[in-house]
Amino acid sequence: MKTLNASLLVTAVAMAICASAPTAHAASTQPWTDSNKASVQRTELLLKAMTLEEKLLLLFGYASGDQLAQVDSTIIPGVNAKEVAAKVIPGSAGYIPGIPRLGIPAQYQADASIGVRNPYLERTSLPSSLATAASWDPRVTEAGGKMIGLEARLSGFNVMLAGGINLAREPLNGRNFEYTGEDPLLAAEMGAGLIRGVQSNNIISTVKHYLINAQETGRTLVSAQISEPALRMSDALAFELAIEKSSPGSVMCSYNRINDVYACQNDKWQNQVLKRDWGYKGYVMSDWGAVHSTVQDANGGLDQQSGFPFDKVPYFAKPLRDAVDDGSVPLARIDDMARRILWAMFDKGVVDHPVKTGPIDYAAHAQVSQAAAEQSLVLLKNDAGVLPLSPTAAPKRVAIIGSYADKAVLAGGGSAVVTPIGGNAVPGLGPGGWLTQVWQPSSPMKALQKQLPATQFAFDAGTHVDAAAKAAAAADVAIVFVHQWTAESLDAPSLSLDGNQDAIVSAVAKANPNTVVVVESGGAVLMPWHKDVKGILAAFYPGAAGGEAIARLLTGAVNPSGRLPLTFPASTDQLVRPKIGGKSEGPLFTVRYTEGAAVGYKWFDLHGHKPLYAFGHGLSYTSFELGGLQASQAKAQMTVKFSVKNTGHREGASVGQVYIRAPQSARWEAPRRLVGFGKLALKPGQTGTSAVNVDPRLLATFDESTGEWVIAPGMYEVQLGAGSDDIRATAKLALVGRRFTSAQLRR
Ligand code: GLC
Repeated sequence: MKTLNASLLVTAVAMAICASAPTAHAASTQPWTDSNKASVQRTELLLKAMTLEEKLLLLFGYASGDQLAQVDSTIIPGVNAKEVAAKVIPGSAGYIPGIPRLGIPAQYQADASIGVRNPYLERTSLPSSLATAASWDPRVTEAGGKMIGLEARLSGFNVMLAGGINLAREPLNGRNFEYTGEDPLLAAEMGAGLIRGVQSNNIISTVKHYLINAQETGRTLVSAQISEPALRMSDALAFELAIEKSSPGSVMCSYNRINDVYACQNDKWQNQVLKRDWGYKGYVMSDWGAVHSTVQDANGGLDQQSGFPFDKVPYFAKPLRDAVDDGSVPLARIDDMARRILWAMFDKGVVDHPVKTGPIDYAAHAQVSQAAAEQSLVLLKNDAGVLPLSPTAAPKRVAIIGSYADKAVLAGGGSAVVTPIGGNAVPGLGPGGWLTQVWQPSSPMKALQKQLPATQFAFDAGTHVDAAAKAAAAADVAIVFVHQWTAESLDAPSLSLDGNQDAIVSAVAKANPNTVVVVESGGAVLMPWHKDVKGILAAFYPGAAGGEAIARLLTGAVNPSGRLPLTFPASTDQLVRPKIGGKSEGPLFTVRYTEGAAVGYKWFDLHGHKPLYAFGHGLSYTSFELGGLQASQAKAQMTVKFSVKNTGHREGASVGQVYIRAPQSARWEAPRRLVGFGKLALKPGQTGTSAVNVDPRLLATFDESTGEWVIAPGMYEVQLGAGSDDIRATAKLALVGRRFTSAQLRR
């Protein structure tokens, strides 16, 4: 695709936006413009002033680009597709017209969780969401969200389709890189941080993809079969907690079916759970092409059809008007749909703070991305102190091998991939088109050369075993960069690294005892050579400054503090399903999630599997003592306190993880659950303390016959760990029984 003249693009957008900003005059005749009024009040005032046509206008979104311009106007009567297409920011995800008469701005939608994704706009990429989830620090994802939300705003967007938090139920899921791991609490906390950050720019964020969109293979064909209690206690719990902790303006319903009913028409999970039980006030937007009807989707809780013509039919255009006319969709439902969208626009600041394009401080933003990566990458192995490669005792010769480490770091593919500042560092790889592999122009080798100026570096492409071994043999330390590209719409064919990467690592390890491996991946990968190498750093997709972050962690300029947000299995035999079910073409199919809520480490605990690297695992260049564990319960609220001491000689950050083991009588899905965590940065000798208020839902099972959470009375074991497999202290706590609903918790 040719690159548009950027300044032309910016001007066009600026003109389109300014036309809709509310004016001071409006305040008198248009009381909803009074920002002193509550969002709910302003919404009702505005709704009263709207015609039915204007309400319907808010419910139907367009995609960008040539596709829309080709749409025959008989398909969307009364709409000139070419005129609409001219208003959409080229290359962006979507657009919903504004209503200037009422001061309602147009909605300009941009992807996604890792940065502003647009083939025509070069923007700053965060590390993948899975990577920043590994920081176990919501402040990291909040800072990241703040940065990408600002870039969205300064690019003319007021809706950012961020907030992917689907649990990594399937280790092969091609989009795990876009999500926040395998545990509901961690996924929620890290996703909520991102959403808060994005929305701090007075724009709307989403949380997505609702619900249990656990694989990419046949994502529009699959029906996720799972019991209500299991779903409530796993994927749905991640959404429930994330929504409470971040109040996203919108929830994006997913492509798949949930127990045979498409997510975007699923009355149970949209109306009864999300809107009734959880009291959600925002709006449900569809994923792009995830709508299947007018009446069933509208009455099933969908509020806005996104990205026409991704769907075959403009269900929420004239057909929705017809459905109102014939009474199959009540007028009250139309009001509710418009109300939710307007509420989100008022509540998140979209109406009062119209977006305006402007200059972006890319240098500062690269720093934000680098800081996030430095807090996130996980040191998995460090035998014999092969790391850090300290400048004061730097190796004379270092071989850098593989994965274009002399020029780039890898990013995940699909609608989340950000066009790098400076363009794709390794063009022409991958399936092509929207699935072209993108490599961020941030070279680990160049960054290492800066950190270790006295060291001699040699680069080998890592494509031929003999050459790689030769390069390794000639060096004091060999660093092999391996990579696994994953992307939206595809699942990983296997957890093994592709090509001859495993053979390269083994050959290098044989040629040089001081071999370190850096893994750039979308999630968990198998490491048949893990015993043969001395050091392993999980870099995931480390973002726009990933090379610099990797170098600073390998040389000890920064002490690694990441902890795994998902389990790295020792073999696929340990998985619930060694293979992803179904096909991307052909008939509808079902995947039965028989593991229920026992996702990730819970499954491993349940079956006594020892993973290669456990959930919550991560090493440091210093050491920590965890203790001072106290668990108490007052007025049905459980609180856990603990302390951490840095017992080493350099500063570092530790993540205290609190797990609870329930009595058998509690009938949990697995022996243990993560119920809290705290990250503490400590100087040598310093002790820090942390307190965790345990959300009662994390101690409960869900009773679908009454719609209540149930905490069983009994003796519970509280565990304090530096990883799920590294428990340092335990305490017992007797809990009284308790029944409650999510709604009661909100009172
Ligand atoms: C995609 C994705 C969704 C994205 C949307 C707009 O298919 O599933 O995450 O926000 O369409 O690009």
